[in-house]
Amino acid sequence: MHERDTDLYQSVTPLAPVSCDQTANFTHEMGNKEESVMRIGMIGAGWQGGTLAKQLAKAGHEVRVANRRGPQSLQECAKQTGTIASTVEHAATNAELIMIALPFKAIPSLPKSLFKDLPDSVTIVDVSNYYPSWRDGPIPEVEAGLVESEWVEKQIGRPVVKAFNSITFDSLEHLGKPVGSSDRIALSLAGDRVEDKKKVAKLIDDLGFDALDIGPLSQSWRQQPGTPAYCTDLDLERLSAAVKAADRRTATETREEQSRAIVALGPNATPLERVKASRQVFVRNYRQQFGRDC
Ligand SMILES: NC(=O)c1ccc[n+]([C@@H]2O[C@H](COP(=O)([O-])OP(=O)(O)OC[C@H]3O[C@@H](n4cnc5c(N)ncnc54)[C@H](OP(=O)(O)O)[C@@H]3O)[C@@H](O)[C@H]2O)c1
Repeated sequence: MHERDTDLYQSVTPLAPVSCDQTANFTHEMGNKEESVMRIGMIGAGWQGGTLAKQLAKAGHEVRVANRRGPQSLQECAKQTGTIASTVEHAATNAELIMIALPFKAIPSLPKSLFKDLPDSVTIVDVSNYYPSWRDGPIPEVEAGLVESEWVEKQIGRPVVKAFNSITFDSLEHLGKPVGSSDRIALSLAGDRVEDKKKVAKLIDDLGFDALDIGPLSQSWRQQPGTPAYCTDLDLERLSAAVKAADRRTATETREEQSRAIVALGPNATPLERVKASRQVFVRNYRQQFGRDC
């Protein structure tokens, strides 16, 4: 991190409350609609998958959404958000891009046949995060050092792009801005296939964020929980610095510290308070490590 990044974590835009309606916030109006519409399968319809589906539909994409309980449970929300309630299999069929927005430990429970016969051109996006202490339990290969998204690739037998894992659902819903806005938040992505990353970068822009390609999937740990890029809502310049400053040796410990800081805020904390708590953990650690502000 550079000397000049003294305000890396300083400014945070106030966040609006989260809702299931279609009011508020920015998404791109697409130019040539037919060319730009992407058929997207969203597997997982909770806080993150549901919000992504809603925002992507609002940006003009065709989004089929699936959860564990089945399409009946999604009908009402689909009606409100312009998405299509589906089974997991239906969400994947004919999709150009599939997002996996499940708890990390649930990924191996997806049907093994789901990804097997998909055309090579289909892009798979891993939105998940690994939280062994309070949700996922320890997974030996990951504990032994395998990068989380590389573990996901092994489970599904397909290349993935890691994206949309490093922003909370509320920021995703409320903080998108038109391209060129001075305080536009940036989101990083990592993956091994250039064409996949182009598609994902386009979706990031459609939702109102700058995209930052941080390289191959092996580098995706730089945007995982416990790194300064994670849920700190930084603009492009600051995110670039944060990604470079990530330290794999301390990420596990910091992930737990960040979780504790957010839990300590209590259930009524505002999204803004959560983003600030995340930033403070990294500022404190940086100060301890280098004896000065980041
Ligand atoms: N929440 C955030 O702000 C946020 C931000 C970034 C990344 N993430 C990551 O995104 C992932 C999802 O988080 P979330 O907060 O959206 O979780 P969540 O609210 O608990 O939602 C989980 C979703 O996954 C579905 N699901 C679980 N097992 C499934 C299976 N075997 N087949 C199909 N669907 C299944 C659930 O369906 P049912 O409801 O039917 O059980 C539910 O729709 C996690 O890995 C999380 O770490 C979350």
